[in-house]
Amino acid sequence: MQGDHSPRLAVYPGSFDPLTNGHVDIIQRGARLFDRIVIALLVNPDKSALFSVAERAEMAREAFVGQPNVEVDTFDGLLVDYARRRRANVIVRGLRAISDFEYEMQMALMNRRLSAELETVFMMPAEPYTYVSSRLVKEVFALGGSVAGLVPEVVATRLAAKHGLGAVSV
Ligand code: PNS
Repeated sequence: MQGDHSPRLAVYPGSFDPLTNGHVDIIQRGARLFDRIVIALLVNPDKSALFSVAERAEMAREAFVGQPNVEVDTFDGLLVDYARRRRANVIVRGLRAISDFEYEMQMALMNRRLSAELETVFMMPAEPYTYVSSRLVKEVFALGGSVAGLVPEVVATRLAAKHGLGAVSV
């Protein structure tokens, strides 16, 4: 946009239960593309989560410590209302595979209908993360499999603690 020097604030919304290296990859890409990116954790009391919102926020903060243009926040209600309150111009979402597409397209178009000035930008993670999801990470870990390299160190530590295990290597 010519002559528009307002800072570009992007919101990266999600459940992040827990944050994976796929999320981290998207956030790093977003942090390069926009002036600031906010990891916006949905506060959803109905959803049965492994980690509380406070725990998820703590892990995300720790994963991005020393990166002042990455912020962690929580929201409830409509994402478009949160984005408006934050004066964000962009919603960032990651797209891994075609299977993500339908759900993401529906959300992007619904959000556009609710707030036409807010743009959804999709980013692809690096190939090693194209199959990584929070759901699979939790399942594999709970069944004793390794999630080495798939989650930040702080998440691996917290997963181990949840399952009453000692330190695990990532
Ligand atoms: O990580 P997720 O669970 O795929 O993230 C989904 C999220 C949080 C982006 C979506 O559920 C959301 O935006 N919820 C807030 C309520 C809302 O705005 N709903 C209408 C979306 S079109």
